[in-house]
Amino acid sequence: MAGRIPEETVDEIRKSVDIADIIGDYVQLKRQGRNYFGLCPFHGENTPSFSVSSDKQIFHCFGCGKGGNVYSFLMELEGYSFIQAVKTVAEKAGVQLPDDLGEETSKPHDPEAQNVLDAHMWLTKLYHHLLRHSKEGKEALSYLHERGFTDEIIEKYSLGFSPPSQEFVVTFLEKKGFHPQTMVKAGLLVVNDQGEYSDRFRARIMFPLRNHLGKTVAFAGRAMGDQSPKYLNSPETNLFQKNRLLYNFDSARSTIRKSKTVVLFEGFADVISADQAGIHNGVGTMGTAVSQTQAQLLKRYADEIIICYDGDKAGQQATVKAGEILKQTGCTVKTARLPEGMDPDDYIKKFGGERFKSEVLDPSDPYTSFIINYWKRNYNLQLEGDRIAYIEKVVQEVAKLDRAIEREHYLHEIAREFDIAVETLKQEADEVRKKSYTPGRPVPNVEKPQARAPMQSKLLPAFHNAERKLVAIMLNNPVIAEKVQEEIGGAFNISEHQVIVTHLYAYYEDGHESDISQFVERLDDPSIKELAVQLAMSPIGEEVTDQELADYIYRIKAEKTDRTDIKGLIEEQKLAEQHNDPVKAAQIAMEVLKRKKEMRNI
Ligand code: UTP
Ligand code: MN
Repeated sequence: MAGRIPEETVDEIRKSVDIADIIGDYVQLKRQGRNYFGLCPFHGENTPSFSVSSDKQIFHCFGCGKGGNVYSFLMELEGYSFIQAVKTVAEKAGVQLPDDLGEETSKPHDPEAQNVLDAHMWLTKLYHHLLRHSKEGKEALSYLHERGFTDEIIEKYSLGFSPPSQEFVVTFLEKKGFHPQTMVKAGLLVVNDQGEYSDRFRARIMFPLRNHLGKTVAFAGRAMGDQSPKYLNSPETNLFQKNRLLYNFDSARSTIRKSKTVVLFEGFADVISADQAGIHNGVGTMGTAVSQTQAQLLKRYADEIIICYDGDKAGQQATVKAGEILKQTGCTVKTARLPEGMDPDDYIKKFGGERFKSEVLDPSDPYTSFIINYWKRNYNLQLEGDRIAYIEKVVQEVAKLDRAIEREHYLHEIAREFDIAVETLKQEADEVRKKSYTPGRPVPNVEKPQARAPMQSKLLPAFHNAERKLVAIMLNNPVIAEKVQEEIGGAFNISEHQVIVTHLYAYYEDGHESDISQFVERLDDPSIKELAVQLAMSPIGEEVTDQELADYIYRIKAEKTDRTDIKGLIEEQKLAEQHNDPVKAAQIAMEVLKRKKEMRNI
């Protein structure tokens, strides 16, 4: 059947990968016992409460409650449909899927967005073809060759050439059936007051801009000569936002994750040159300062960010801007050392990739070191007043550092440079730290303990905790589930628990072993799915004694009885009221209150 993947295939694919590997592409995971922990990609946090279990093949965030299996993860994070998620995992696992999975299902639901993506895909091919094979593209191709770009890299980045024509693309897109008005909105065509359409990009070297999924969503066109603007970019659209997209992120992602390091460039040419020279973890901003969104994205993959901007004044200024934003992510921020007046691409062309690595990237300075030096240009350090002002500024900055050893390091440097007792500087720094510490807020350098979901919550009544514990054990143990089924069946008091156990009984009856990752596929309601995952992930004792089991069941039954009794009493109370017997009604009301109070005290 087109558009549907058989359940066994879905399972087979899921079992052929480790959820930790797939999630590891997005989240830095640290192993802790049998689980992995990391910062939740679904909500902002500084202490990891997101955990992944390889045993159970599920993830769960104790902070925001999101949880599920590998498919739920991709659907939630990438906005994939179920089929897209299965396809993605199948690809990673190298599992062949039937071809007849209706293409429609793997495309975004928005037909206009799909239309725009298609147009970009066709134009990328067209521009690339024109660069490689047309007479008009020859000059552009030799220009790229002269700049040292190989055919291989031109291919990898699908570089292209837009012909010097008014209507080449207009005609091309029209023939392909695209509506010109949509193409104007997409930024591929322009329209004048007379309603005449023409090509936006003319006689430019075309750089397709791909989003994190590898889909071209915009173009940057570089002029061949000195025309202005040097780069003409697509306008912002729903699919292309400059402050969200990072050039080359889709291709650099896996290297960034493995090396835990990303190199941030300013220009497209820098990213490509570096890649050609063997530095595959480079990404670029779109000629704008790095944004919070981009910083957050990088933080999900990298521990260290090296800013590698041009070695001129503007480049250094941009480095400060980027550094201030990037250091807020908590990553180690470094700045590469480019000689004055060179950009990374120039350097690589002149000295080669090896030297770029060993003399520019490897000796990168910690950002604090860079900024301390950078500030010097604002002061005349020959003058005592300036000197003191500068030192004070440095101390303020150093005081913000979390680690004592780092503070010590910089204070020693300054002490040496300006011949001041380091003790004096330390005292100053301590003063600054004391002042900036607000009571009630955590001391900056104290690590918070791991967030954990309390299995026994003091806030929940005892029967509720008993149910949670029991469901958790049942999810992990079919034998106990069977026992509970015999004893109380679906008679749990919390309706979500009823839903879970009802599905669970059916699941085990189908002959399945405990497999929470597979089981959650059966639960339609996302909040119930998340609850099941949360319970299954809770640190429960693998062993439960018969006594404990009996105790949980007793509490659940007792609650049920009480609830039934109370229901009955309330009925009686209503009857008494109807029969004009306020004394009896009041007596019953008292009894109800008493029972309710007792229940809470169990
Ligand atoms: P640069 O002027 O440093 O260009 O702009 P570049 O990357 O070194 O390009 P080449 O080597 O001359 O070919 C850096 C970045 O700023 C953006 C582009 O993203 C560019 O890569 N930019 C620059 C624009 O968007 N528009 C412009 O007109 C110029
Ligand atoms: Mn350049």
